[in-house]
Amino acid sequence: MSALTLSTSSAATLRADAIVIGVAKGPKGPLVAPGAEAVDKAFDGKLATILETLGATGAEGETTKLPAPSGLKAPVVLAVGLGDAPEDEDFGHEALRRAAGSAARALAGVKKAGFALPVTDAGSASAIAEGALLGAYAFTPVDGSRKNEKADKGAPLADVVLVGAKPRDKAYKAAAERATVLTQEINRARDLVNLPPNDLTPKEFASVAQAAGKEHGLKVEVLDEKALLKGGFGGIMGVGQGSANPPRLVRIAYTHPKAEKTIALVGKGITYDSGGISLKPAGHNETMKCDMAGAAAVFGAVVAVARLGLRVNVTGWLALAENMPSGSATRPGDVLRMYGGKTCEVLNTDAEGRLVMGDALARASEENPDALLDVATLTGAMVLALGNRTFGVMGNDDAFRTSVYETAEEAGEQAWPMPLPAELRKAMDSPVADFANMGERMGGGLLAGIFLQEFVGEGIPWVHLDIAGPAYHESAPYGYTPKGGTGSSIRTLVRLAERTADGELG
Ligand code: BES
Ligand code: MN
Ligand code: ZN
Repeated sequence: MSALTLSTSSAATLRADAIVIGVAKGPKGPLVAPGAEAVDKAFDGKLATILETLGATGAEGETTKLPAPSGLKAPVVLAVGLGDAPEDEDFGHEALRRAAGSAARALAGVKKAGFALPVTDAGSASAIAEGALLGAYAFTPVDGSRKNEKADKGAPLADVVLVGAKPRDKAYKAAAERATVLTQEINRARDLVNLPPNDLTPKEFASVAQAAGKEHGLKVEVLDEKALLKGGFGGIMGVGQGSANPPRLVRIAYTHPKAEKTIALVGKGITYDSGGISLKPAGHNETMKCDMAGAAAVFGAVVAVARLGLRVNVTGWLALAENMPSGSATRPGDVLRMYGGKTCEVLNTDAEGRLVMGDALARASEENPDALLDVATLTGAMVLALGNRTFGVMGNDDAFRTSVYETAEEAGEQAWPMPLPAELRKAMDSPVADFANMGERMGGGLLAGIFLQEFVGEGIPWVHLDIAGPAYHESAPYGYTPKGGTGSSIRTLVRLAERTADGELG
């Protein structure tokens, strides 16, 4: 894990292996961004001209490496594009975050880099730190992982030094601490998503949660298959019963002695989604180890909130199962009795997420939280609707849904509100059960949300995040987003907990 420090040194005097500076896209060519003054001076004020000669434009994600002039202690200068230059020189947090991420990725294998990007306050410093620490990520093969060491492209950037931040200022110190904790938990969630599904079974995931609980003083309870059967968790059992790796339900709770509110978070944790008897065809199952990304996000968020000591209670529920076909698997046509007693006809065993989530939502509702959020890689339909980078935000309370959407935007995560049209419910009517787990194809992401709503306790404000698109990134890395697991929604969940702790939310 990369380390973060704040430095009082200038970009010229900092001893590092590289100095990162920002370049913006101006109307007449690249512009050197604020923060790089000392570096520009060492280049005799010709940095913009040199960059232009080298073909740099300042476009988002562009990186240009230069040998440093003698006035600098670092041997290399890395110029990173910030995108279009804002008129007031006020770069948005997300532009800073992405630029820092691109720079960190371009510096993989480097030991120590000073980031001399435009810092104006603790907020911008925090965004730069987050981007750098998220960009400095590489999947850390744990135990059984089989990557040939020789094929490894090298370690991520090890030391991130923020130049221009005030190390003795309380707000900056808090921002650095927050960025460190938040990015460590996001990177941990990415690792969990990237782990091969034969290494991360429901049981293994539960023991990872137990270990983290011990380390950070969280209460962790695990229901194994016997307890789930006895407890009436027909959804989780129904999905998990076809697998040699039995299911688990994990409750991981953080409490603050002075908390006034309790938030419950429920995460979909299908460690592998083969589709079950309604088997997915080849081409649709290669990335389905990512189907536990919701549970990984919930887990990461709860641990981050605990480490930050926020004044709010947060209870995480991880609904863990492996969806496999076998002689003991649920068949299309089976009826399951879900937690709480409602019955569900399983028409398609590949619509398994809503089954495990239904049980967990009903169980979480029993504790009557002030707010209930669930995170799930729930439907391909949401990916068709919103693409690969945006998660859908649905819910039973328009004001709360709007707050969550605004919180995502503030945290720098792409999200969009989606409706839950009531008329879709009747498509799930079943002649043999209270409802079926499938209805019509049109509006499939919304239909799944309406299914989940059946399990939300009366009067509890609830929001559902469908992260099927952004949870797993299959194409080339960009900004601070690597290939593979992304840690989608953790920043939103943690920011929401902070806002709740600060009394900003209902
Ligand atoms: N895990 C999938 C959804 C998914 C798709 C996640 C693509 C990430 C990327 C989910 O369990 C699923 O299979 N959903 C089906 C539901 C259908 C059978 C009603 C889908 O979306 O096709
Ligand atoms: Mn499925
Ligand atoms: Zn699934």
